[in-house]
Amino acid sequence: MTDMRVAVLGTGYVGLSTGICLAEIGHNVICIDIDERKINKLKERKSPIYEPGLEELLIKNSSTGRLTFTTSHPYALNHADIIIIAVGTPQSDNGRADLSFLEQAAKDLAEHIIRDSIVVVKSTVPVGTNEYLKQLLLGQLKNKVEIKMVSNPEFLRQGSAIQDTLKADRIIIGSDDAGASEKIQEMYRPLNVPFLLTDVRSAEMIKYASNAFLATKISFINGIANLCEAVGADVEDVANGMGYDKRIGSAFLKAGIGYGGSCFPKDVKALLHTSREKGVPFSLLEETIAINDHQQELLVGKAQKRLGELKGKKIAMLGLSFKPETDDMREAPSIKIARALTAAEAKVAAYDPVASGNARKVIGEIITYVDSALEAAKGADALFIVTEWEEFRQLEFEALLDVMKQRIIFDGRNCLDEAALQECGPIEYYPVGRPAVILRRDD
Ligand code: UDX
Repeated sequence: MTDMRVAVLGTGYVGLSTGICLAEIGHNVICIDIDERKINKLKERKSPIYEPGLEELLIKNSSTGRLTFTTSHPYALNHADIIIIAVGTPQSDNGRADLSFLEQAAKDLAEHIIRDSIVVVKSTVPVGTNEYLKQLLLGQLKNKVEIKMVSNPEFLRQGSAIQDTLKADRIIIGSDDAGASEKIQEMYRPLNVPFLLTDVRSAEMIKYASNAFLATKISFINGIANLCEAVGADVEDVANGMGYDKRIGSAFLKAGIGYGGSCFPKDVKALLHTSREKGVPFSLLEETIAINDHQQELLVGKAQKRLGELKGKKIAMLGLSFKPETDDMREAPSIKIARALTAAEAKVAAYDPVASGNARKVIGEIITYVDSALEAAKGADALFIVTEWEEFRQLEFEALLDVMKQRIIFDGRNCLDEAALQECGPIEYYPVGRPAVILRRDD
């Protein structure tokens, strides 16, 4: 394999994981970001995000010299033949994807590209954006160079970004240029992952369709979970039974308090926005969103039903991040839960292994942040499991329940081991989509 010279624009989850993994498979990579603090941190070989395995590979590949960081576009673009754009496309007020970072990236590239290049768009972008960016780029090019565009959406998950990049299920390469497509395949070839070659618009659509489908799968099982509660069935058994059917598959059928994160909420809304814009109704997506909105506040309703008025009640919240193994708070169910509880004048003490710092910025001081599950539980009327951190499965529940005022657990992620909990009974245990039980010691 020939190593290639790659520049990655944007050092968020996608850009950083991509850059590091491309260096790991032998390429020469420069990552660019306008955020000087972030770049300085990366130069010191420290990861700006919490992501398992990322810092090790950052240190390893920085020390070989294959991975470097800069805030200078001219410096990075002077180096690269392949430029990967991985800047954010956040959600704007009307649900549309905000393309301003991409537009800025196109302007920067137009100004500083000095050689024929392949521009790879990894950011999640509405169908047609690659073509729009190409026009923008070509319209402003300072130097006479040839630009080829490739749409290459990213499917990595936070918390397993490195593994997902190194062992992806597939790599989508959308391009109208066979040469560019071949070059990008060559870049990824050491990963030994199946390639799917498509036109640009289909590649863009694959990303939205995949995320919207997964989000819908989650909302579907959450709808079933709510029905299970009403009819006395167990959603874990139901999901298991469904998952055996290969046409359905067992992944993403975990019922709980809904999806959050930087992708599903915004991508479903962006796809819905596209469908409205095109006059093609897709109300299934509206329902996916509505179920999720309801689900994120499920525990609050359950607590109200069990405890009555929440004014003055103390709730221990375990978990703040939108899922385990990340400190990311974007669209985390904990935000809505914290706001709803405090609006009802409950007192909330929250503990998360890594996300408290970020949570403070989003939720603010309306709740108290503590350093352990035990501290959160002190004097609590109920315990909410909001994120399924492994640490919470391993808790010393005996000690925890002893310091609580009432021995009540609402498990929003169905992650606790009922048999182990039973040893610490009596406990009132409220999972999602499964019958609530009073767990008592056998003796
Ligand atoms: C997701 C996609 O999986 C990934 O392919 C895409 O590139 C970005 O968006 P991510 O947001 O990192 O990745 O997390 P993921 O593990 O997919 O979980 C998303 C949310 O769904 C989390 O809040 C999680 O708790 C929830 N979820 C997931 C469920 O509630 N049930 C499930 O069965 C699976």
